[in-house]
Amino acid sequence: MAANIPQFTLNNGTKMPAVGLGCWMGMVGGEERVYEMCLNALKAGYRHLDTAAGYGNEKQVGRAIRDSGVPRNEIFLTTKLANPDHGRVKEGFEKSLRDLDCDYVDLYLMHWPQAGKSDDNWLGDVFRPGESPTFVETWKDMEKLLEGDKLKSIGVSNFSIKNLEILLPHCTIVPATNQVELHPYLPQDELKDYCESKGFILTAYAPLGQPSPNKPGLINNETVKALASKLNVDVAQVLLSWGVQRNIAVIPQTENAQRMATNITLVQLSPEDTKVLDDLHLQPKMHRSLCHSTRVSETGSVFGWTCEEMGWPEHLYKVD
Ligand SMILES: NC(=O)c1ccc[n+]([C@@H]2O[C@H](COP(=O)([O-])OP(=O)(O)OC[C@H]3O[C@@H](n4cnc5c(N)ncnc54)[C@H](OP(=O)(O)O)[C@@H]3O)[C@@H](O)[C@H]2O)c1
Repeated sequence: MAANIPQFTLNNGTKMPAVGLGCWMGMVGGEERVYEMCLNALKAGYRHLDTAAGYGNEKQVGRAIRDSGVPRNEIFLTTKLANPDHGRVKEGFEKSLRDLDCDYVDLYLMHWPQAGKSDDNWLGDVFRPGESPTFVETWKDMEKLLEGDKLKSIGVSNFSIKNLEILLPHCTIVPATNQVELHPYLPQDELKDYCESKGFILTAYAPLGQPSPNKPGLINNETVKALASKLNVDVAQVLLSWGVQRNIAVIPQTENAQRMATNITLVQLSPEDTKVLDDLHLQPKMHRSLCHSTRVSETGSVFGWTCEEMGWPEHLYKVD
C-alpha cells in the first residue's frame, strides 16, 4: 500500500510525492542492490523514485518497478540527462527509456548545467558556459520531448539563481523543479524564494547531508539530535519533515528497510522546532555543502565549471 505521504502539485498540474527514494549508491551502478532497494521501497509504500542515466542503474530501477506489481501510474519516476548527452537530448532520453524499459518517465531533469565533451559522465572535459550546446539549447531540446507521450514534466538540477536568470527568459516551459543539495546546513533560502517566485519548487538532494560512517556530519549534530529526542523520533525524520514543511520535496537514499520506513514517516514540527533547524546554518562554520559530488576540486572547479560559473558561493562548497 502507498504510504501516507503528502503530494506536491507541480506547475503543470502533475503530482509528485513529497518524499522519494534516492537511487545514487555513492558510486556508479549498484546492480542487484539497487533492484532490491527499489523493490523494498515500493513494498514499504514509496511511490517516487529518483535515478539518473549517470547513476548507471536505470535498468535495475525499471525492473524493480515492473516486478513490484505496483501499477506504473501510481509511481512517480524521475531520471536525468547525463552531461555528455546535452548535444543529443533525444538520444539520451530514448536510451533512458530503453534502460528503464517503461512506457514513460514522469520527470526528466537536466542533471547539471555543464555539457560534457566526452562520454565520461563525471570526469570528462566540459564546454565552457555559453559554448554550444549551452544549457539553453539543451533545455529547448528537452521541451521538445514533451511533444510525445513518453514524458510528463521536465526540470533542472544544480541550477543557481545566476544560471536560472539566463535560462528562464528562453523557456516556453518553466522547469517543474530545481533539484539541488539542500538540508539545514545548506538551506538554500534565497534560491527557494527565487524558484517559488518563478512558479516552481525545489527538490532536496542529500537531504540527510549524505552521512557516512567516517563523516557523521548533520545526522550527528547535537542540536538536531536533541530535537529528535524531544519529539521521540529519528534525526532523519526531523530533517526530512523540516524539508517537506518548507514545501520542498526530499529524496533520501537508504538500503536499510527500517530507515526506509522511518524516512517516509513525517512528523509535524512546531514553529519553534522549525526555527531551531532554520537557524542551524547561522552557527559558526555550519553553513556549507556536505555533498562529495558538489565539492570544489583541487583545480577549483565543480565538474569543470568554476563556482563563479556555477553561480555558487565558493566558500560554501570548499570547506569540509
Ligand atoms: N541531482 C544531483 O546532482 C544529485 C546529487 C546527489 C544526490 N542526488 C539524489 O539525491 C538522493 C539522496 O542524496 P544522497 O543519497 O546523496 O544523500 P542522503 O540521502 O542525504 O544520504 C544517504 C545516506 O544516508 C544514510 N541514511 C538514510 N536514511 C538514514 C536514516 N534514517 N538514518 C541514518 N542514516 C540514513 C544512508 O545509509 P544506509 O543505506 O546505511 O541507511 C545513505 O548512506 C540520491 O540518492 C540521488 O537520487 C542528486
